[in-house]
Formats: sequence, C-alpha cells, structure tokens
Amino acid sequence: MKNFIPKPWILLPKLFAIDLHCEIKGIEIELKKIKNEYLNILKNENFKNHSGGAFLGGGWGAIGLRTYGGDPYVDYVDNKSKLASTRLLDQCKYIKELLDRIPGEKDRVRFMEVKPSTKVFWHYDNNETIDDLDYNKNARLHLPVITSEDVKLFLCHQDTKWSEGKLYYGDFSFPHSIINNSKINRIHLIIDTKINKELLNLFPQQFIKGINLRKKIKKICQRSCNLYRKLKLIDG
Ligand SMILES: [Fe+2]
Repeated sequence: MKNFIPKPWILLPKLFAIDLHCEIKGIEIELKKIKNEYLNILKNENFKNHSGGAFLGGGWGAIGLRTYGGDPYVDYVDNKSKLASTRLLDQCKYIKELLDRIPGEKDRVRFMEVKPSTKVFWHYDNNETIDDLDYNKNARLHLPVITSEDVKLFLCHQDTKWSEGKLYYGDFSFPHSIINNSKINRIHLIIDTKINKELLNLFPQQFIKGINLRKKIKKICQRSCNLYRKLKLIDG
C-alpha cells in the first residue's frame, strides 16, 4: 500500500529531469583484482552491522579499510578519533594503489554488503554531496564489486543500475533507498574522498551544470521525506 502513495521526492526531480548520479571516468579499475582482495579478506573477516538505523534485520554491514580509529569494525564517524587505515588495507595492495589514484584525501573506505531480501528505507545523508562545493566535505563514491540487476538502489526517481567495476558518484543528500531482490550479497567498495578541484574535474560537465537546480529542490525532497516518515506514510 505504502508503495503506491505518491512521493514528492520522486515526482519533483522526475518533473525537472534531474540527474542525481554519474559515472566517474578516467580512472582505470581492474575489477578482478578488487574481487580477489575482497574474497581474501572474507576468509577471516565477517561483516558487522552498519551503524545507521534505516533498515530492518541484520542485512546491511560494513568492513572498514579506512575508519575513524583504524578498527575495521567501527564504521561510524567519530570525531574524537583520527582517520586511519585498518590492518585490512595492508592486505589490499591493489585497492591501496587505486585509492592513491583517486583525487582527494580519503575519509572512510569500506566494503559494504546488502544481503538478499534486505530493504534500506528512504532516508538522506545531508552532507554527502558535492553541490555545496565545500572542500571540507566528502564525495561518496561507489564501486560495485558484486551486484545484480535485481538489486535496486534508488536515488529519488532514478534507479541507478550501477555496474560492477565502474566508479560512480551519487548525491546521497537526496532521499535514497535500497532493495536487494536478488539471491546474492551485494558488495560495494564505498570511498569517501575530500572534494577538491582535481576530483570535480572528473565529473561530467553536464552533472556539474545541474548543481543549481539540484540545490533548489533538495530541501523540498528532504522535508517531504521527513514528513512522510512522521506520518508513517513510509517505513523507517
Ligand atoms: Fe544513506
């Protein structure tokens, strides 16, 4: 029933044909090497539940390569601790080298899983945007490592359909939700990196041109999402 209630954060960006994600090109990525390093880590490690609350059950987890404090199992922002590489990053020589090739100082870097049948409810993360052109903020980049067409990651009206082995930026300051309808664990390498000029140069010009329009409708999208949750018109 709730699925059929019209949602302003879907209708409005659709009406203005707003783009909320893009591929970041120009960085060579060898998916096989990333997969091997991921599988190697899994021999001895398990995902720990993500600290965010917008999901049901235990199907959304993280293993950190770079975290606050350097513990692979602390995935929240803890300003009392320094950002540090975890012991697991030393086992990922290729990923380490890849991170060095992506512009910007790295913040958290994590493998994140979404297990089959897991649903992450509509929510937004206000700081995860390049649109403020704030060099103190991070851009959140996703590199799908293992995924399927049946994993749906929606950014407002857009079904992202991201492919394995490519690098993407999504503006998660807009409402987003995930549903894993597949039978596999969806694994993304999620890289938070400080915004700088060099990084912004990798974004498609068309996407940068969309900044003003995105900023104009963002508050309406965010506030309507809050209101719908309060009125229990959406889960979470
Ligand atoms: Fe989120």
